[in-house]
Amino acid sequence: MSLNELIRRIPKAELHIHIEGSLEPELMFEIARRNGITLRYRSVDALRRAYQFTDLQSFLDIYYEGAAVLRRERDFNEMTLAYLRRAAADNVRHAEIFFDPQTHTGRGIAFATVIDGISAALRAGPISSRLILCFLRHLSAESAMQTLEAALPYRDRIVAVGLDSAEVGNPPSKFAAVFARARQEGFLTVAHAGEEAGPSYIGEALALLRVSRIDHGVRCFEDPALVDDLVARRIPLTVCPLSNVKLGIFRSIQDHPLRMMLQRGIVATVNSDDPAYFGGYVVDNYLALASALGLQEAEVRTLARNSFEASFLPDEEKKAYLRDVERA
Ligand code: ADE
Ligand code: ZN
Repeated sequence: MSLNELIRRIPKAELHIHIEGSLEPELMFEIARRNGITLRYRSVDALRRAYQFTDLQSFLDIYYEGAAVLRRERDFNEMTLAYLRRAAADNVRHAEIFFDPQTHTGRGIAFATVIDGISAALRAGPISSRLILCFLRHLSAESAMQTLEAALPYRDRIVAVGLDSAEVGNPPSKFAAVFARARQEGFLTVAHAGEEAGPSYIGEALALLRVSRIDHGVRCFEDPALVDDLVARRIPLTVCPLSNVKLGIFRSIQDHPLRMMLQRGIVATVNSDDPAYFGGYVVDNYLALASALGLQEAEVRTLARNSFEASFLPDEEKKAYLRDVERA
């Protein structure tokens, strides 16, 4: 089996995917038309051409604009099902999916509409999954707390809370009280950190938010003591290589530290982040790394294993998936 075939065939988990970032332009136009919304772009091609980003904020502006077509339960349902089917085609067997309720409640859409649409798709979908509620960090801690309270009736559908959106200037410390409350309520925690902001945000996420995983974390190498800590405590990083290049974190995949992470003993995983915007799903991310960094078979196997080990699945389910990885 060639390496590319192994990448396609090996069972994988995806742990860093924003469901709103999986909305492909074709489906966005269809939903917009159905909901009587006129997009700023005249065609699918024109929209795709606009996907040229200089940094995280330039992406977020377009991403929130795209998400505004989602109004009804059916819209959230179709978007989620489309992602699950596409992920399954990549042999992603399990997905832990972020959703951004404030993006929708801020436009007057009920929390119930969002989560009912998504969770019906998760129940019907072809792979196992968990849901992670992300707070938008550019909004206030009060808004995050209100969102947490709105989520409490749905706590059995949500495994963890996370933190996304504009990182610089919105450190984890801003959300310490919200995350403390979330942990009290039984949620696990994760946070985007060290994507665009420096390693101190990773340290804060660990110390103040008590996260089980760091999303991105690619700037960890700027603090060697932090790297020692990530390795010693086996804190997983959910890394998104195509995203990092599209948002200008690294100039090219050749410059990406993923391989260095594995060599250093970090529990790194490979994920797609916002695949509809960054030009690739999970397999595309693995293939890009393999060709640019010359990944070896053993490294691909480690990445697949890490993805299940870092998941929030119960141990027995993890073990079953890990056995499938060994057989591939
Ligand atoms: N929201 C969607 N994708 C994101 C990313 N890569 N970083 C921060 N917030 C996001
Ligand atoms: Zn992300």
